[in-house]
Amino acid sequence: MAKFIRVAATSEVPDPGKTLVEVDGEMVALFHADGSFYAIDDVCTHDGGPLADGELRSHTISCPRHGAKFDIRTGAALTMPAVRPTRAHDVKVEDGGVWVRLRDDVSATGPAAHATASPIAVTGSQPTAHSASSGTPSPLPATAAAGTLCEDSIREMLKDVKDPELFVNIVDLGLVYGVTLEPAADVPDKQKIVIDMTMTSPACPAGPQLIGDTKRVLGTHPEVTAVEVRIVMDPPWTPDKMTEAARDQLGIF
Ligand code: FES
Repeated sequence: MAKFIRVAATSEVPDPGKTLVEVDGEMVALFHADGSFYAIDDVCTHDGGPLADGELRSHTISCPRHGAKFDIRTGAALTMPAVRPTRAHDVKVEDGGVWVRLRDDVSATGPAAHATASPIAVTGSQPTAHSASSGTPSPLPATAAAGTLCEDSIREMLKDVKDPELFVNIVDLGLVYGVTLEPAADVPDKQKIVIDMTMTSPACPAGPQLIGDTKRVLGTHPEVTAVEVRIVMDPPWTPDKMTEAARDQLGIF
């Protein structure tokens, strides 16, 4: 097992506060919050963002890139677009210094110890960390199923559009806020579909792909002449918009 390494004097990290330290050649984000020290990898599991540069509020750090939040006590991913925990490490306070011991793996229960500013390391209760499902995205169907167009059938078709990072379809993720059918202006018996869609975060890198896939899937229906996708960020997406199936798939309970 790795050894504890002194990374800072306790007085060097204000409460609340954070700093970036090196432990055995790895960059670790060190936090001081409510009288205790915590250490997690300086890596957002969404796309590698530097967590030590993010905003710290209570025991939550926000990734500066796309806004995923992590619990600094356990490394658990709290919000999209991150779904996997980042590694949390053991911390103790001794001889006026903060000491960190790297853990090998992401733990389901967080580190064995974090440390108060007093010289005695304590073990805390930890919320459950989340694990992501794995898999590969399904290819889009060559042609959408023909049939009577209605909101339900359109939502069914949209289940073929999957987030390229989460591998969950946009309907079960709760990204489809509205479906509107309008008679096509210049083609009798044909329809235009308008989709009101949100993203898990304003700067979601998957946005262009999701919009393109939505247009492709719906545009193959023989009754459809046009597909418009409107991006709406109000109300903002929250994880509770996901269906039970999506939560199961992502390992979020
Ligand atoms: S890299 Fe952190 S939320 Fe995207």
